[in-house]
Amino acid sequence: MSLRTPLLRATCARRAGNGLRAPALRRRFASEGGPEIPKPPPPRSSSVPYLLAGVGAAALGAAYFFYGTNGTPRETAKELASDARGVAAAAEGKLGLRRGKDEYQKVYDRIADKLEQEGYDDGSLAPVLIRLAWHSSGTYNKADNTGGSNYATMRFKPESEHGANNGLNIAREHMQKIKDEFPWISYGDLWTLAGVAAVQESGGPTVPWRPGRIDGFEHHVTPDGRLPDASQAEDHLRFIFYRMGFNDQEIVALSGAHAMGRCHTDRSGFEGPWTFSPVTFSNQYFELLKDEPWEWRKWKGPAQYEDKKTHSLMMLPTDMALIKDKSFRKYVDIYAKDEQAFFKDFSKAFSKLIELGVPTSQFAGEAWTMGSQ
Ligand code: HEM
Repeated sequence: MSLRTPLLRATCARRAGNGLRAPALRRRFASEGGPEIPKPPPPRSSSVPYLLAGVGAAALGAAYFFYGTNGTPRETAKELASDARGVAAAAEGKLGLRRGKDEYQKVYDRIADKLEQEGYDDGSLAPVLIRLAWHSSGTYNKADNTGGSNYATMRFKPESEHGANNGLNIAREHMQKIKDEFPWISYGDLWTLAGVAAVQESGGPTVPWRPGRIDGFEHHVTPDGRLPDASQAEDHLRFIFYRMGFNDQEIVALSGAHAMGRCHTDRSGFEGPWTFSPVTFSNQYFELLKDEPWEWRKWKGPAQYEDKKTHSLMMLPTDMALIKDKSFRKYVDIYAKDEQAFFKDFSKAFSKLIELGVPTSQFAGEAWTMGSQ
């Protein structure tokens, strides 16, 4: 139970009275009606398991031919198994055997039901779920096509214990309960779908999403250091995000997710929320970044900024880099003025982020808009 919660809510109400948006966890997309325990669907065709097993066996053979006997037998077996899963996922998509949108919508609805958590931070799991989706995808390296959301490698040590992922065990544990109810969904699909639900249900834009990620193994785990270090500046941001294949405009748009949530001293060492409405997805982060006077906070923790007026908000050194750097600043100005422009660009960039590292062959067709329309 966070002692800060009532204080923050009081601040939010005050700001709302001054004409700014009140914090609200808006439910806009989940299907109507109460939670429903899903029954496993009947197999679409009795030949499907045999077909997929056949495809998997073919993949095993092909992969064995390709990899030979390099590595330990255990590593080789796991490599073969993940190749087989990838081929089976591709076949599932191509042959129209994947579960339909309505079944993924049930998972989405269950996630949406769990977002509101009285007593946790500011009353919502949405921010930490957005961070889970981002950290599980943002390990991507386009140079060697490793990392990204395909294998959900944050389930494994040492990635689960990388400093950047501190606190994400909370999000993973909540998602595990949903996985237990819907065991057929892959972790990568579940975590990215949770990110989409968190954005949409908090009042943000719709984010196109499609299933197709497969569960990988320990050997897919990415090295530490692929996620950004908040104490750095623009060169570091470019180094990290260009490696994933993003440009300056996308870096700024994605950073707007800091409208949501807060920093925790026991996770990153930093402290406090970026906005007065940390459970509402909005362009308030850009408005505040641009319009408020900021100063270094005088405290024993890591160097961070606080707003001069209320001393209740924070900015990381990497956030401030967005207004210090001319190329980044251009987009901060646009998004501060025009929330729709931010929503449009965020949706595109976030959708791209959560597909990093997933072979297109594993997707079947265009991405969906989840939620009731
Ligand atoms: C640009 C480089 C980035 C840096 C240096 C950075 C750094 C951080 C840090 C230090 C925290 C606090 C963690 C904690 O103490 O709980 C945080 C939280 C968060 N980040 Fe970022 N981040 C970056 C980009 C992003 C992106 C691209 C997204 C999503 C698209 C994102 C979404 C979030 C969210 C929603 C939280 C709040 C989590 C919570 O309340 O539990 N961040 N980030």
